[in-house]
Amino acid sequence: EVILPPHLRRRVETHLGQYISQKPKDIDAFSRSSSNCSIATDEGLFEQPELLPPSKVAIEKIIWRKSQQMQEEQLIWQQSPEGREMMEFRSSLPAYMEKDAILSAILQNQVVIISGETGCGKTTQIPQFILESEINSNRGAMCNIICTQPRRISAMSISERISAERGEKLGDTVGYKVRLEGMKGRDTHLLFCTTGILLRRLLADRNLKGVTHIIVDEIHERGMNEDFLLIILKDLLPRRPELRLILMSATLDAELFSSYFGGAPKVYIPGFTYPVRTHFLENILERTGYQLTQYNQIDDYGMEKMWKMSRQAPRKRKSQLVSAVEEACKAADFKDYSAQTRESLSCWNPDCLGFNLIEYLLCYICENERPGAVLVFLTGWEDLSSLKDKLQGHPLVGDTSRVLLLACHGSMASEEQKLIFNKPEDGIRKIVLATNIAETSITINDVVFVIDCGKAKETSYDALNNTPCLLPSWISKVSAQQRRGRAGRVQPGECYHIYPRCVYDAFADYQLPEILRTPLQSLCLQIKSLKLGTISEFLSRALQSPEYLAVQNAIEYLKIIGALDETENLTVLGRYLTMLPMEPKHGKMLILGAILNCLDPMLSVVAALNVRDPFLTPMDKKDLAEAAKAQFSHDYSDHLALVRAFEGWKVADRDLAGYEYCWKNFLNPAIYNTWSYDEHLLRAIICYGLYPGICSVVHNEKTFLLKTMEDGQVLLCYNSVNARDSRIPYPWLVFNEKIKVNSVFLRDSTAVSDSVLVLFGGGISEGDMDGHLKMLGGYLEFYMEPATAKLYQSLKREFEEFIQTK
Ligand code: CDP
Ligand code: MG
Repeated sequence: EVILPPHLRRRVETHLGQYISQKPKDIDAFSRSSSNCSIATDEGLFEQPELLPPSKVAIEKIIWRKSQQMQEEQLIWQQSPEGREMMEFRSSLPAYMEKDAILSAILQNQVVIISGETGCGKTTQIPQFILESEINSNRGAMCNIICTQPRRISAMSISERISAERGEKLGDTVGYKVRLEGMKGRDTHLLFCTTGILLRRLLADRNLKGVTHIIVDEIHERGMNEDFLLIILKDLLPRRPELRLILMSATLDAELFSSYFGGAPKVYIPGFTYPVRTHFLENILERTGYQLTQYNQIDDYGMEKMWKMSRQAPRKRKSQLVSAVEEACKAADFKDYSAQTRESLSCWNPDCLGFNLIEYLLCYICENERPGAVLVFLTGWEDLSSLKDKLQGHPLVGDTSRVLLLACHGSMASEEQKLIFNKPEDGIRKIVLATNIAETSITINDVVFVIDCGKAKETSYDALNNTPCLLPSWISKVSAQQRRGRAGRVQPGECYHIYPRCVYDAFADYQLPEILRTPLQSLCLQIKSLKLGTISEFLSRALQSPEYLAVQNAIEYLKIIGALDETENLTVLGRYLTMLPMEPKHGKMLILGAILNCLDPMLSVVAALNVRDPFLTPMDKKDLAEAAKAQFSHDYSDHLALVRAFEGWKVADRDLAGYEYCWKNFLNPAIYNTWSYDEHLLRAIICYGLYPGICSVVHNEKTFLLKTMEDGQVLLCYNSVNARDSRIPYPWLVFNEKIKVNSVFLRDSTAVSDSVLVLFGGGISEGDMDGHLKMLGGYLEFYMEPATAKLYQSLKREFEEFIQTK
């Protein structure tokens, strides 16, 4: 709009030459006052310090014009038939009634806490209220709202929903960004992202320049990333007085957050939900006529699960629950049940008992109840898929002309997701099997019936032994209420908790925050990379600070792997590791893999370790599955088995089309055989990454024992390739993960030799060869067999000489 005088044009061109020549259309205006200038573009303001501050008038003009445009577009949409329908839906949500109160609280306070029933419209409406109010006050083109979500799937589905509510394409005004995927454009003013993405952005931009509002959603879940982000934001607020922070939470406990932010005001959205009738096990039996003796007809799957679960249940809680169940049985006069021995009561486990009961309940609902979708809460993906398999063969529930059976979990594809929100055709009942993702972050509107198994998979962390544990454990009271509430969205609903009331009474009120129940290594590394000061001092400012020992373990680990030096500063390796969005041990494998020119197989290993186990073991085809896996397993390494399997897949994938191509072109398909890596080298890199996750292999006559320094004897997970062979021809295993169930189990291990361990274990930095040797010595001496001891001594001498000559 403004034509540049020639002398200025030259100056600007030399400065921003590249920018202008690449994107001439991007420049909306150019302003000047005397010899000072700046350029405002769609992407923001390009201030040139040498050319002095921009003319406010010009910028305001652009912003005003764009905001006007946004406003007009919305008006047109809202007057269209679809738009009107959307507005009708939106204004029926409880959040809409509180719109003014919310906006004025945000205007007057830097931090506001908003809580309300799930489904009342927090996630979809509040970011929109802010956006609309900015647009209506002609600041639309300037605002930059970021809303974080704990899960990818909600960032994606919510942004899509809001775009639809605004009659726009996803990626226009509203977009999303999650790891490896995103939809956002130059005009995106409201961005949904995972909390992890915002944390990474802070790495590059500590003050979040240009961001006007940050909304942290689902804070009641107390995820580690969210707790971490809150500490950082609390520090940032005084530096950015204009920035607004909005915390959103589904249930209660708003007071905790309010006092953390110096008494920030709370806005509560009174929700409207229809009453939900609650049935505990006692009532279910009465209501549905389910015979308790059917518990005894446990299928194979249930048997195995029951056995496993009974060994997994933490001892203290178990006894508590056993007596609770006994009480309940007595009170309800469950003759069959109370006749069972205490031994079998200790196997009380809603998952396995529940599989039969859930099937029965689903039939009962389909046959006797009014229309409405059913939502079933299960512990995790594994349970979900096995129940789905089981139900698909059922004459009623598996009949696709009567039932639409869907699964809802964190890693499902977006196509699948849409089916979950859609209303099925008349006469078809939708049944959704879900993990606790459907508890608060996803709302399925037409649910009328909820079946709650009472458990969720939760990690915990044993700081004393430095061991993570993963157990399906009882949910909290708040979670159970939350699950129940899902049934009353559109009409009065029913909730079936498939456990006795007294078990519910024994639930904890709230769930423990993640920061108190997970290893902290990645978090500590992030604290260092964001230059947030001393790790323990920083963490002491958390909403609830982790245990001293947990923090020390994490710091110690980072020192051992060479990411931090003695004074807790990042090493060069540490700096690289912070740039890789993965656990440090996996980052190390990639870095060394790249250096030693075998990045490709290492990527396969790391990718596979970060998703679910690609090797399936269906219950009915166990032998076949094991035989198939055995083809890949002759290296005494689960990791190399992964690489081989993946390489094989690549060949097979190409072969489908490639074979025909070869046939036509008279090429030899055998050229596709790509396995050409040096297996020993890969083993060394894996060791470099996984150290100090090592255990010694002690052979006796028939088999071997495994020992680690912290745990003593450990076992291998049943599906490890090393669990099948009684002779491992190496003295060590390096492992990706250990997990305490009843004993400590190692997942994914690779066998390595002494020399590989000595040369590749730990991060040997030049300055700290001594420390490294001392520590390595500690490990070796602990396990030392005479031959190893000798080798170690001679290597140590060699190293020491080497250091002296240097
Ligand atoms: O965040 P909160 O739990 O308070 O509610 P929300 O996610 O904003 O959802 C508000 C309403 O929008 C609910 O009735 C949802 O069912 C509906 N919604 C939808 O129809 N489709 C989506 N993809 C997301 C939400
Ligand atoms: Mg929400």
